[in-house]
Amino acid sequence: MYSFENERLDLNMRINDFVESLTLKEKFKLLSGTRYWWTKPIRRLRIPRMGMSDGPNGVAYHSSFRKNTQFPVTKCLASTWDKQLAERVGVAMGEEVRAVNKHILLAPGINIDRTPLNGRTFEYFSEDPFLTKEMAKPFVKGLQSQNIGACIKHYAANNQEFKRYTINALIDERTLHEIYLRSFEDIVKNTNPWSFMACYNKVNGFHGCENPHLIQDILFNKWKFDGFVMSDWFATRFTSTTGCINAGLSLEMPRTIIYKKKSLLSALDENQITEERIDELLKRMVKIMIKTEVFKKKIARGRRNTEEHRQLAQKIAEEGIVLLKNEGILPLNSSKELKIAIKGRNTNKKMGKFNYGGSSAVIPPFEITPLNGIGVRTHIKLVKDPKEADYVIIFTGLNHGKHEDAEGFDRLQLHLPEEEEKMIMETCEKNPNTIVVLINGGPIAMEKWLNAVPAVIEAWYPGMMGGHAIAKVLFGDINPSGKLPITFPKKIDDSPAHTNPDTYPGDKQVHYREGIYVGYRYFDKFNIEPLFPFGFGLSYTTFEMSTCELDKEIVTREEIITIKINIKNIGMVSGAEVVQVYVSDVESSVDRPQNELVGFAKISLQPQEEKVLCIPVRIEDFAFWDVSIHDWKVESGEYRLRIGSSSRSIIFEKIIMVE
Ligand code: GLC
Repeated sequence: MYSFENERLDLNMRINDFVESLTLKEKFKLLSGTRYWWTKPIRRLRIPRMGMSDGPNGVAYHSSFRKNTQFPVTKCLASTWDKQLAERVGVAMGEEVRAVNKHILLAPGINIDRTPLNGRTFEYFSEDPFLTKEMAKPFVKGLQSQNIGACIKHYAANNQEFKRYTINALIDERTLHEIYLRSFEDIVKNTNPWSFMACYNKVNGFHGCENPHLIQDILFNKWKFDGFVMSDWFATRFTSTTGCINAGLSLEMPRTIIYKKKSLLSALDENQITEERIDELLKRMVKIMIKTEVFKKKIARGRRNTEEHRQLAQKIAEEGIVLLKNEGILPLNSSKELKIAIKGRNTNKKMGKFNYGGSSAVIPPFEITPLNGIGVRTHIKLVKDPKEADYVIIFTGLNHGKHEDAEGFDRLQLHLPEEEEKMIMETCEKNPNTIVVLINGGPIAMEKWLNAVPAVIEAWYPGMMGGHAIAKVLFGDINPSGKLPITFPKKIDDSPAHTNPDTYPGDKQVHYREGIYVGYRYFDKFNIEPLFPFGFGLSYTTFEMSTCELDKEIVTREEIITIKINIKNIGMVSGAEVVQVYVSDVESSVDRPQNELVGFAKISLQPQEEKVLCIPVRIEDFAFWDVSIHDWKVESGEYRLRIGSSSRSIIFEKIIMVE
């Protein structure tokens, strides 16, 4: 046995022994992948290959050629604002990755929603870095608890699909750190992720894979990341051998492009790179090979397509569904015989198809469509003509077709396809009791038809059990508790990235001129009324927050404040509320948003039940990025805390003093 295989030896000894055992040629081999999802084996040393699989919604078909549990998309998980669910789904996905004999899941995707038209909005959490990091950290923890590596992607500022391979994102230092790197940083510092994926695009002039500022300076030196960086697939195409080695890229995927033997040898000969640097990059990767049990003969087999995983997929969908509008029509009576007409492009649409939407596509063993979900309800009589129906339900939204919600293409419009809008309007003419259920991955403009419709539900892409979850919300078996993790603008021109062609979509460059004013930060700052604000979501019951107490009013930067809220369910059905805490710096030396999310908690309450909800808030989350010191800064002085049930429904305001 080689000592690197010896599990009783100290990890660093095993790592050093591994690299010292390699010939130069073998080192070169390990720097790039093979067969699309694997590192290369080194047979002489009995070094096995390490395997990766997409993606954020479960084990993708194209990287496993297996049907696996199709969880709801990340945008739906984010809408639950439920950290425990995030951790549970991380554990479940870890089990499924192990069951297909892989070692790394290429997730979570944590890029910030800068434009609602980004084709991959469904794959990411939020427009807000705090919500993103607070939901991504438990996911990473859950995943890695199964000895499956997370791969935090796409580092960094991969905020659009338009020209994603070549676009150069021009971002000022403060915006880069305060918005686009913030979640990456917090995940590194608090969950020790085992890998990162460098992005296709350029950031301030350098492609992600050969960006020394992002990788060596910030990720390695400043944040002390001790995992390894792999490229996005074919992302090294426009880069150089020397550039990537010196920036810190350990693994070129899916195959050798710039880490060819002859390129590496000539770079060594010309002293552009050193063998010590190659050793350092390999040690980062070998550490993760050991942690993901690549060398272990007997490892836990993992579990996939279990009943438990399906229940979890349904639970996330149930908690992620957002009730956007309800003029007393929902929930529908769940026992009386009802005549219902069903329409809409997503009524019986299966989303789990090969590469449908891109790399995250999971094909489940089966998929419960909305029609299936309704069909199991025996008290429902489906009728064709809306005029004969008690209610009409329109299951509409988008799908993963080109220029809808798909990797590689951005959406071309914020509203639904015209024919869907027309159908909604015509249906409302025939029957005013028309409910719209949106199945899609991001904001939708609704100005044409919203007023005509008494109820709207945002169900996202709810995964393989989505039809049951949607039906349970429609008929009141469960009370919706989702909250929007992204602002729904009234029209695309209201969106901060859309003020000018060079702020979006750009051409060679895309200018992040809106700076830190992304999402609700922008709508608040410039007093633009959104269609539905960040953090918004209705319920079938009513919650009343009667008191709000702070455990202290004068604090230092290192401290944590606990906010105690007395909250009561004063309605007739049980439900859950997400209480949100926003902060604003009353007298700041720099321009700052009016509100920034710094805390939240979700609480379930039976009818008439009252509880005290405690929300911890870390003062260090009040920081802005100070470019004069190239670091975070919390200025002393007064801060206003705003507590409520959305970014625009504030119940309490409290002033605290930071010393
Ligand atoms: C894709 C995606 C990335 C994915 C990888 C492997 O192009 O950008 O998210 O993990 O390639 O499929």
